[in-house]
Amino acid sequence: MEPRRVGESSTVVSQLMLPSDANTTGNVHGGTIMKLVDTVGGVVAMRHCRQRVVTARMDEMSFLHPVFVGDLVTLKASVNDVGRTSMEVGVRVEAENLRTGKVVHTASAHLVYVALDPEGRPAEVPPLMAETEDERRRMAAAKLRRLRRERRERA
Ligand SMILES: CC(C)(COP(=O)(O)OP(=O)(O)OC[C@H]1O[C@@H](n2cnc3c(N)ncnc32)[C@H](O)[C@@H]1OP(=O)(O)O)[C@@H](O)C(=O)NCCC(=O)NCCS
Repeated sequence: MEPRRVGESSTVVSQLMLPSDANTTGNVHGGTIMKLVDTVGGVVAMRHCRQRVVTARMDEMSFLHPVFVGDLVTLKASVNDVGRTSMEVGVRVEAENLRTGKVVHTASAHLVYVALDPEGRPAEVPPLMAETEDERRRMAAAKLRRLRRERRERA
């Protein structure tokens, strides 16, 4: 299978936070952000493998700053590393106050997606080419996380 570049599947999505995304005091629900993270992560995984995918895992996610109604939330997502049939995608969430222009890093998450063949069995994905220093750093960190996950599961 031909390797694919990180940049071929990287995705940036922005969405304005509306009252339907929030509680009665205007704070956006964590679940709203998590759904966006999973959606954008899935798009990145599908762009990399061009097959259907399922979310196998979402690593722990801390909310570093609150997000409010009226903020523009931007999600930046790319494939960090791939295995045989799985792909780890990193997603960074930022919130921009549209009146002041202040941007805060709200959350980051690592998700693992598995590609599926037409019968619903895990299917091989293309290798990943990490070209920049950042991409290579993210790939090395993803390999470490995978090792730690596998060790935890064996324990
Ligand atoms: C994800 C799923 C397809 C994996 O099936 P499986 O029979 O365990 O497949 P395998 O053991 O062959 O593993 C396939 C790959 O997934 C990875 N994987 C499976 N479960 C994982 C988990 N919990 N976390 C991280 N990776 C996981 C394996 O490491 C393997 O990766 P590799 O091929 O790159 O080495 C299956 O568990 C599933 O369908 N889960 C439900 C997914 C879903 O519905 N998600 C929506 C949210 S509810």
